[in-house]
Amino acid sequence: CGIVGYVGRRDATPVLIQGLKRLEYRGYDSFGIATVGSAIEVYKKAGRISAGEGGVVGLHGCTGIGHTRWATHGEPNDINAHPHTDCRGRIAVVHNGVIENYRELKRHLLERGHIFRSETDTEVIAHLIEEHYDGDLLAAVNATLPLLKGSYAVLAIAKDTQRIVAARDASPLVLGIGDAEVFAASDMTPLLEYTERVIFLEDGDVADITPEHLDFYHGGLKTERPVELINWCVEDTRKGGFPHYMLKEIYEQPQSFYETSRAGIDEAVRRMILEADEITLVACGTSYHTALVFKYLAESLCNIPVRVEMGSEFKYFIPPLHGLVIAVSQSGETADTIAALKMAKARNCPTLAITNMQGSTVTRVADKTLLMRAGPEIGVAATKSYTAQLAALMQIVNLRCEGAFDDVLSHAHLAIGEVLLLDLKEAVALCSKAEHVFFVGRGPFYPVSMEGALKMKEISYVHAEGYAAGELKHGPFALLTAETPVVAICTPGPTYDVMTSNIKEMKARKAPIIALGAAGDTELAEIVDIFIPLPNTHFLVQVLTASVVLQLLAYHTACTLQRDVDKPRNLAKSVTVE
Ligand code: G6P
Repeated sequence: CGIVGYVGRRDATPVLIQGLKRLEYRGYDSFGIATVGSAIEVYKKAGRISAGEGGVVGLHGCTGIGHTRWATHGEPNDINAHPHTDCRGRIAVVHNGVIENYRELKRHLLERGHIFRSETDTEVIAHLIEEHYDGDLLAAVNATLPLLKGSYAVLAIAKDTQRIVAARDASPLVLGIGDAEVFAASDMTPLLEYTERVIFLEDGDVADITPEHLDFYHGGLKTERPVELINWCVEDTRKGGFPHYMLKEIYEQPQSFYETSRAGIDEAVRRMILEADEITLVACGTSYHTALVFKYLAESLCNIPVRVEMGSEFKYFIPPLHGLVIAVSQSGETADTIAALKMAKARNCPTLAITNMQGSTVTRVADKTLLMRAGPEIGVAATKSYTAQLAALMQIVNLRCEGAFDDVLSHAHLAIGEVLLLDLKEAVALCSKAEHVFFVGRGPFYPVSMEGALKMKEISYVHAEGYAAGELKHGPFALLTAETPVVAICTPGPTYDVMTSNIKEMKARKAPIIALGAAGDTELAEIVDIFIPLPNTHFLVQVLTASVVLQLLAYHTACTLQRDVDKPRNLAKSVTVE
């Protein structure tokens, strides 16, 4: 979910609507805003902001809060949309996170005569604040927070007071500092249009925000929080003439790869990497796939044992831990990854975060951070953040190999640029007619295939599976027909011969083969149905170029099927609940 808030001199409504649009990638099941005019005024609606914003009329006031939802408790309808209010409409709150003990709190509040309207966990917060409210919103929020178990970023407003009280525990919240105005948001993307000065709240912080003053409290005591400067600009969040953010972000990859590689690794992080005799990576989704690519590269090229764990599994089945633990997360806010990172810290492992988001939670939890330079990624499907993660991870491999790949990596962006120009029409036509598509590869190209399949699933809704090429014969062969295309990555190297045998086996089961191979490989081109030539480069670079081709294949398939590419159904870019 995404939350925004505004306190200042402007009309709050357009600021909030604009902010929610920028945050929509965090969830788009429903949206809502509330302002403090002569009363608390609320508008909320199921569906997207673009479809519903026309209904937002007649809300007044220069103080307000807003929310865009990715449903957890209760289906996405008008009533469950945030903001939620108390019984008398004097308090309104927006919330990101999960209140785990809400049933118990709700029972208690019902007994005390509170009337609930929604099925959400959030509504209890509004009623609890009401219980404690006697004109002092800060005191009422302070009395409420200790009762909540779970995670929250909350913004609360009350009738008759031009202030927002904000609180954070295990859900992100950042404030943008303007001139006699303050903006609040789940991440810095909506703040970029107004200011470059931000303050990240820490877990357990409460902020009392008015146009005149901004005070922070932690553990009941007043505290200070530093102002930081954002290293992104608002231009980076615009579509720049592309039909979708995803395509723009795919095209930005030569630059984001180059920038991230060039940024280098600072001395303390270098030492951490060089001293590690074992590395564990924790990650989810696309980041999990980059971590798997790293495992293949680091184990085979630098002979260091690497373990890769899904954040969501790790927490419940903790493996024996030893050595450096790296959390890989584009947003830096994925709850499962953060939970795993915290457990690694609790076991005294040195920890490193690889993220694209300055100031994000992983950067606060981990001992050190390696910041990717991908710029804001708005499309829900990760693209440039994936290759930027690979840039950072390949730098680690390179460091462990004493710079053996300096030259290779410094030219990789050129090859990435080349594959952007490939013609994929035939392959797209095949995939957009298919019900199932398999993606296969070996070694590092196996996780590249998994990522290709994930991209295909998430944005085109065509069922896809990524498989280690040699495993297909142990079951999935039963699914191969003339209607199930197989996308096979078959580049020169130790697995080339066995890959071509696998391709022949699949062909014998009538599956149409789309092969990604080295340009000029006529032998391969002859045995497959569609041949996609990758530039003849080092295999590390082919990991990148193959990945980019698979992103484009998913993108164009999704466009052909007229899917909502940037906001696929049921998904959110950043999942801040476990
Ligand atoms: C969500 C996104 C995925 C992403 C995953 C992990 O599910 O939809 O695209 O890979 O979260 O996100 P992270 O920010 O931790 O890399």
